[in-house]
Amino acid sequence: MRQNILITGASSGLGAEMARQFAARGRNLALCARRLDRLEALRDELAPAKVAIRPLDVNDHDAVLAAFTELRDELGGLDRVIVNAGLGKGARIGTGRFDANRATAMTNFVGGLAQCEAAMSLFREANAGHLVVVSSVSALRGMPGAITTYAATKAGLAALAEGIRSDVLGSPIRVTTLFPGYIRSEMNERVAHRVRFIVDTEPGVRAMVAAIEREPAKAIVPAWPWRALAPAIRYLPLGVVRKLG
Ligand SMILES: NC(=O)c1ccc[n+]([C@@H]2O[C@H](COP(=O)([O-])OP(=O)(O)OC[C@H]3O[C@@H](n4cnc5c(N)ncnc54)[C@H](OP(=O)(O)O)[C@@H]3O)[C@@H](O)[C@H]2O)c1
Repeated sequence: MRQNILITGASSGLGAEMARQFAARGRNLALCARRLDRLEALRDELAPAKVAIRPLDVNDHDAVLAAFTELRDELGGLDRVIVNAGLGKGARIGTGRFDANRATAMTNFVGGLAQCEAAMSLFREANAGHLVVVSSVSALRGMPGAITTYAATKAGLAALAEGIRSDVLGSPIRVTTLFPGYIRSEMNERVAHRVRFIVDTEPGVRAMVAAIEREPAKAIVPAWPWRALAPAIRYLPLGVVRKLG
């Protein structure tokens, strides 16, 4: 049983709800994000669960290892790290918003890499642990418009996780890549158009938590409709796939 669980991006959306659902299962939590007030409120809400919190910007790469190490020491070990912090900003490539696309690329991919480095250094030291990387169904193909960069970062994260899994095959360390479909959170609440197949936060995260507990190499969640759609997304002509973007 993975008793001590670190979650990044725990101040809102899927990260906060994963914290609620793991706390309900009796787990100890280490929660990080930039908005400390949100983490404090969540810690109060989850009492008497054991919850350690740290303000953390995943773009401050040295701070990532420092925070993970401090949280490990505070909880007396880390059994699972969920690389969940993410940014959904972006614009069509070539329309002058390199700043937004770069912020997403740095946070999701390079910030994700920093988190994987920190988690794996602790897991290698302990020769144990479960690394969970939150990718997205948007990683299955190149996506158009405002999510081109976002989808590319999520494809990069999935490849990163698979490479790490390859490194530790045959060892006690496990690596899971989650490919969530659309789940309500702060990230998509301001999206102007109707998001196809979106589900509410609580059931969406319930599917994520159930998959994490099974510790598969990869999981597409929620199963319906995404597991049925995934092969189509992978092989349909781009002109059809772009309608999902
Ligand atoms: N919602 C979906 O439909 C969906 C689908 C597939 C994958 N995902 C992925 O799920 C993860 C969680 O997203 P969400 O939907 O829950 O969105 P959200 O509500 O906007 O949450 C994003 C979280 O990431 C944190 N974060 C952002 N930039 C950060 C930074 N530089 N340093 C540290 N933390 C940072 C935010 O905390 P602070 O602002 O307090 O730092 C927040 O807690 C993301 O990786 C997202 O790509 C979401």
